[in-house]
Amino acid sequence: MARVDRHRPAAGVALFPLPFQGHINPMLQLAGALHERGLAITVLHTTFNAPDPARHPGFSFVALPDAISDVVTTTKDGIAKILALNAAVEAPALAECARDALASLLNKSEEGEPRLTCLILDCTLTGMQKVAVGLGIPTLILQTCSAACFRMFRSYDMLYEKGYLPAEESNLLLPVKELPPLQVRDLFDPSILPSKEIGLKLLNLASETAANSCGAIINTFQALESHELTAVRDELLADKGVPTFAIGPLHKIASIDSVGTTRLCNQDRSCIEWLDMQDPGSVLYVSFGSVVRITEDEFTEVAWGLADSGKPFLWVVRHDLVLGVEKAELPLGFECAVEGRGKVIEWAPQQEVLAHSAIGGFWTHSGWNSTLESIYEGVPMLSSPYVGDQLATGRYVEDAWKMGVLLESLLERGKIKKAITTLMEANDGLEIRERAKSLKEKARLCVQSGGSSRRDFDRLVDHILSL
Ligand code: UDX
Repeated sequence: MARVDRHRPAAGVALFPLPFQGHINPMLQLAGALHERGLAITVLHTTFNAPDPARHPGFSFVALPDAISDVVTTTKDGIAKILALNAAVEAPALAECARDALASLLNKSEEGEPRLTCLILDCTLTGMQKVAVGLGIPTLILQTCSAACFRMFRSYDMLYEKGYLPAEESNLLLPVKELPPLQVRDLFDPSILPSKEIGLKLLNLASETAANSCGAIINTFQALESHELTAVRDELLADKGVPTFAIGPLHKIASIDSVGTTRLCNQDRSCIEWLDMQDPGSVLYVSFGSVVRITEDEFTEVAWGLADSGKPFLWVVRHDLVLGVEKAELPLGFECAVEGRGKVIEWAPQQEVLAHSAIGGFWTHSGWNSTLESIYEGVPMLSSPYVGDQLATGRYVEDAWKMGVLLESLLERGKIKKAITTLMEANDGLEIRERAKSLKEKARLCVQSGGSSRRDFDRLVDHILSL
């Protein structure tokens, strides 16, 4: 295993995250882990959702021009945002800026500064990859979703060929036998988008960047996705000789001091004091991540489902959670109904919340970071996936890992109450809680010395230093 001097780095890496919380977090966690191993870190970023350099004193930051942000901020749709960002990086003037930034890093290497070994980029950023390759800089990709989802996204030709897609009412419950335990209803169906072609293009980005890279880094761990990881590793290796590194959960691969924290919202820490006053394992934590938006009707059903469950809860209501309103307002009479057992905040210190002994369950949209954070703390989940990779992750939570309950179809207060009861009450949820404990042990082992993620991380550092 190669060792380098932390205080006088001879080598460095550049990193470019997709500018959304669920993608910035794992990229900066990876940066922290590499920094801890003596590599100089330069983070290239847009000014839209820019990370705060003050929170990462050991890293250098290079902002790319505002014009990228303008394009990205004008569209509300997440998929369109990613494509717009790529298009912006590919636009001649902007590609020039990205090229200048990377070329200047290369020049610095010649002036005695740390040698630039590679660019690690979000797996959706094909435009940025082309710029790096044009300068002769090797690239590695970071896949921020699960190995199962990466594999599913790489299988769309097969899914169409075999008639699983486009999904029809009559085949929604059909098992996808090539990708167990998925069913047709768990597949993200690009035909529901205004443009199926655009959806397919997006799904294909990760395969394209992986094939053109020198390595694929996945935020997962062997014991969680053994079969799926083997399939992805074999495919990428056989295809273009690309090695895979499974080094998750990334939020635990480096110490917190090296990672720092970039938050796009202010955390409300009053919830920790509130949790301190609750009974162990009694509280349901509810959060739908940083991008999911729900309708006003769904919001009302969630509120009354929580009220009717009778359980203590901590609910993150982001100011932009509800579609079509400036700021979400709780339904009339709700606060009175849950007085003393419910707390609503705008943004939580989520990892700390999940690690708190008062937490007994997590109602989540099944975003991959949230899922891994929950697994690491052994917290059983109630999954309400919305879109993209979340759909498949919800299925894995219930059927593969058996550490949660999948809440499918429209949110309705009666079903919500029933699902919360199943998850949180002694008899029904016993097996689920046991499974959650067992996965927690496995997650902890994999990041310890000699664990699978730790070994893959060592391999990754050696690989980077060999570039
Ligand atoms: C998006 C996609 O939705 C997700 O499916 C994909 O895998 C990554 O990109 P997001 O929806 O934001 O991400 O969800 P998630 O992946 O769970 O990431 C949210 C992050 O925000 C987590 O790291 C979580 O700890 C953090 N968070 C969330 C907080 O710190 N506080 C909160 O109140 C809510």
